[in-house]
Amino acid sequence: RPGLVIAVDGPAAAGKGTLARRLAAELGLAYLDTGLLYRATGRRVLDAAADPRDAAAAEAAARSLTPADLARGDLRGPEADRAASAVAAIPAVRAALLDWQRDYGRLHGAVLDGRDIGTVVFPDAPVKLYVTASDEERARRRHLELTGRGVEADLTVVLEELRARDAQDASRAVAPLKPAEDAVQLDTTTLDAEAAYAAALAVVRGKL
Ligand code: C5P
Repeated sequence: RPGLVIAVDGPAAAGKGTLARRLAAELGLAYLDTGLLYRATGRRVLDAAADPRDAAAAEAAARSLTPADLARGDLRGPEADRAASAVAAIPAVRAALLDWQRDYGRLHGAVLDGRDIGTVVFPDAPVKLYVTASDEERARRRHLELTGRGVEADLTVVLEELRARDAQDASRAVAPLKPAEDAVQLDTTTLDAEAAYAAALAVVRGKL
């Protein structure tokens, strides 16, 4: 299916990336983690010693992103999370990244994960998943991921930061985090990665 686009949206640490990557491999599609675009933009603004809420600085950073920026090793962690969410609330940043995401999806056919893929980037995608899990479960997973990478983290702080980021992402004026009307919601709170993947694949197969 050349040009097929599958949208995988949802709040932070819901397991979207793992699911989307596996779906892409199964279906022979490319995979794009769109959060990386916002993370890399935020990082560049921090490098320039600017404030991630500074619209001009953030737009300039978004417009000059290179593949090398997306491959940086410092795009995960609390500081990068906050900077990404801050630049993502700026309309000019989202506009700068929009065509790039659309071209990528159309060119390769792809599974894209993010916040607004089903609502804004590809509103006509034939398959849209909205992946959720309880706040506590998502915090537990993120905490496990951080400590697994050797990053010291406090579960309570992880939970607070995750809630703050979701609140910011859901309340912004442009492309807020929310399920598309035609998205299939998948609550993975009580599912392990394998069961979540099986459920997602069943949804996809049912739509194609
Ligand atoms: O998905 P991830 O947690 O890596 O995304 C980092 C941040 O980038 C999110 O908190 C959100 O503010 C922003 N984002 C977005 N739209 C997307 C993907 C990510 O606004 N499609």
